[in-house]
Amino acid sequence: MNNIILIGFMGVGKGSVAREVIKNSNYIAIDTDDLIESMENKKIKKIFEDEGEVYFRKLEKDVSLWLEKSVKNTLISTGGGFYKVKNLKEIGTIVLLDSPFDSIIKRIKEHPNATKKLKKRPLLSDLKKAKELYKQRRPEYLELADIVVNVDGKSALECTKEILKKVKKHV
Ligand code: S3P
Repeated sequence: MNNIILIGFMGVGKGSVAREVIKNSNYIAIDTDDLIESMENKKIKKIFEDEGEVYFRKLEKDVSLWLEKSVKNTLISTGGGFYKVKNLKEIGTIVLLDSPFDSIIKRIKEHPNATKKLKKRPLLSDLKKAKELYKQRRPEYLELADIVVNVDGKSALECTKEILKKVKKHV
């Protein structure tokens, strides 16, 4: 299938890295949150508000089954909780973008669109809870990843070069 799957916590920069990967390689890119928003014709925040998180996770599962069956040679960026789908390994090479929690929050807060970035992520509305979620998820991310890229202090282009080099070696 030759897909690359970007996993990692909310705000770690999966979207920015995905945009840089497509500029610097032959991959095309898709994003699981974008697919879900199109499927439902609703923003993620609204899906959480109207239908709840359990429903959202069911949509992620539907997307994962479609990706496994139908998508090849693609960079797939995922929502921070997408890694929980059962068939992640069947979809492609799993690349974790890793960063300490405090750096992630600092990165979001310093972004020109900080308010928007925080607002659109229901699970970041309470930073204490978000930190707990990070602590719980990080070992699971590390366990699943074929490749780990520490993104702290690196530009999206630097991360991209590292990803492409490591993916080449991995396959
Ligand atoms: C989530 C992360 C979000 C989005 C949803 C849930 C999570 O995506 O899928 O709000 O469970 O971590 P980003 O990682 O792109 O923020």
